[in-house]
Amino acid sequence: MIRKLFVTTALPYANGNFHIGHIMEYIQADIWVRFQRMQGHQVHFVGADDAHGAPIMIAAEKAGKSPQAFVADIAAGRRQYLDGFHISFDHWHSTDSPENTELAQGIYRALRKNGLIASRSIEQFFDPVKQMFLPDRYIKGECPKCSAKDQYGDSCEVCGAVYAPTELKNPYSTLTGATPVMKSSEHYFFQLSSSRCIDYLQGWTQDGKLQPEVANKIKEWFTTDENGHGGLSDWDISRDAPYFGIEIPDAPGKYFYVWLDAPVGYLASLKSYFDQGGPKAKYGETRSFDEFIAAPDIEQYHFIGKDITYFHTLFWPAMLHFSGRKVPDNVFVHGFITVSGEKMSKSRGTGIDPLKYLSLGMNAEWLRYYIAAKLSAKVEDVDFNPEDFVARVNSDLVGKYINIASRAAGFISKRFAGKLGPTPSADGEQLLATLRGAAAEVQRLYEEREFGKALREIMLLADRVNEYVDQNKPWELAKQTGAEPRLQEVCTICIESFRLLTIYLKPVLPALAAKVEAFLDIAPLTFADAARGLGEHQIGSYQHLMQRVDPQQLDALFEPPAVEAPKPGGEDIAPVIGIDDFAKLDLRIAKIVECSHVEGSDKLLRLSLDVGEGRLRNVFSGIKSAYQPDELVGKLTVMVANLAPRKMKFGVSEGMVLAASHADDKVDAGIYVLEPWPGAQPGMRVR
Ligand code: MSP
Ligand code: ZN
Repeated sequence: MIRKLFVTTALPYANGNFHIGHIMEYIQADIWVRFQRMQGHQVHFVGADDAHGAPIMIAAEKAGKSPQAFVADIAAGRRQYLDGFHISFDHWHSTDSPENTELAQGIYRALRKNGLIASRSIEQFFDPVKQMFLPDRYIKGECPKCSAKDQYGDSCEVCGAVYAPTELKNPYSTLTGATPVMKSSEHYFFQLSSSRCIDYLQGWTQDGKLQPEVANKIKEWFTTDENGHGGLSDWDISRDAPYFGIEIPDAPGKYFYVWLDAPVGYLASLKSYFDQGGPKAKYGETRSFDEFIAAPDIEQYHFIGKDITYFHTLFWPAMLHFSGRKVPDNVFVHGFITVSGEKMSKSRGTGIDPLKYLSLGMNAEWLRYYIAAKLSAKVEDVDFNPEDFVARVNSDLVGKYINIASRAAGFISKRFAGKLGPTPSADGEQLLATLRGAAAEVQRLYEEREFGKALREIMLLADRVNEYVDQNKPWELAKQTGAEPRLQEVCTICIESFRLLTIYLKPVLPALAAKVEAFLDIAPLTFADAARGLGEHQIGSYQHLMQRVDPQQLDALFEPPAVEAPKPGGEDIAPVIGIDDFAKLDLRIAKIVECSHVEGSDKLLRLSLDVGEGRLRNVFSGIKSAYQPDELVGKLTVMVANLAPRKMKFGVSEGMVLAASHADDKVDAGIYVLEPWPGAQPGMRVR
């Protein structure tokens, strides 16, 4: 039976770039999704930015941007991470979207009609300067217990006391420094404490689908003590203007608290995907979004971290159920990633910056493999340990698996013109039977998100193949006369084994699997291919599949940035270089002898430059928006004279003219060509 799956990860706040915790979650979900696709199931895997809320509004204001522009800039940076780590979302959207507004307001209206929305007045701290109610995190003051200064509104970092923000002595707003005043305002509540909600959620959370430790945690949340304290309380779902969010229907100046519309963003992203025709194009899905999301044959799963369990196992199913919608089939909760045993700090991040990892040329699939090897279906934290990382990648992934192909492929291509041969012997067939026989177990483990166990199983199979190679010693067979048929057979068994292992590893290593498919000259592998053999197939030529990790790359990864530089024009100063690096640049004074427009280009001017070489250089420069050709002719400027010539649409450019502009090239602050002080001559070196 073909399953139809709607799968999401948590929606990341759009107030910063992805950190390694996000990437870990995406890798976990992506492996599961790719596994399902490889079984022929239909998967709609969507994500979105969680755009709303006070912190984003305030961060945007600090950055001098509208919240919309601020989250758009963050969104523009997502692709490089997702592509870089081979995360195969079918669609990415935003909670700040018309789809989400419509869905969130619709769900709210349905809940209200169902009698589960109440309103009452509450008192809260208000910043009289900023004219806004202050979320607890923006209030500081002196600890009511030990009088330590500058403590947050919820707990004291010095003595550990826990209190309400109203108990702080000399409280102040961290936004303006003003003393907050108490002010009352009407708030809207979702009545989670109603017996209807509690009865329903008891059932939904305790029917055996959730991970046992998650179900147990939730049981605690339901429990009230002998004084009636604890248990579920009503949920405050409204915030007062100014707020970056979705307006509450029939309540002017009131917005949904970000956590109300955030999970609705799952549906909004899927809706936007439907509106773009994605499901139809991919699987011939003919149903509308509304039909699809209500249909009993659709399974809905959310991958999340442990910190947001409450929202996903209580609020979210209750919101959906009591607004007359289908609820998730399950929520898969993972632990946190730590680095060398240390928790990640929200402000400082960790030693692992995902983009730095990629820019160092480290292979994304090393990380996918390593994280997969440590993941289970439990809510356990996963530690990234550099030595362990090197060991697992080099000795398991490369040493055990990749090696099988590199040991056999050369003989097949050199000695047998790339042709696999017959495999009549029992030992080889037995090995293949063992490998094929493991398919069901590997599939079960992937399905249950026991990726670590799956990889251990697969590596045990790789051990069996390597034992077979060691027993049969193809490198010796290659030297014996008359052993050709046996050599071809042994190598054929290796290649076939390698193909089977590749099927099993493909959810974790999709890019590598694609290389293997090219090398073997076969169609994209699915789990069904485990039952079929390659036969006497002609394979392609072996291409290098995967490098080992160089431990120095990890040193570089963990090396702190060289300088804490200021940010001129909003961009960090580039990493420090030595004088030798600088000396590689040959900068020369150039005289602009001729200058003209370039037909068909709205950015470029064509310059003829004299750098004292007895000939003129042709250089294209993107300065048309700032200068008329006449203004430039006869002037001196500075050029990079040893830049490799670059072929452009309009001709070859033999260097580059230096000009100043804003560090962020999206900001137009003008372009200013450099000009030396009087006296400089064409050809002089600048250093
Ligand atoms: N915006 C909310 C989620 C809304 S879902 C409707 C949010 N965003 S987040 O950016 O803070 O976190 C996104 C996901 O990353 C969450 O599932 C969170 O648990 C996960 N992680 C954040 N730090 C993490 C680690 N250190 N390790 C693993 N996952 C972590 O919460
Ligand atoms: Zn204290």
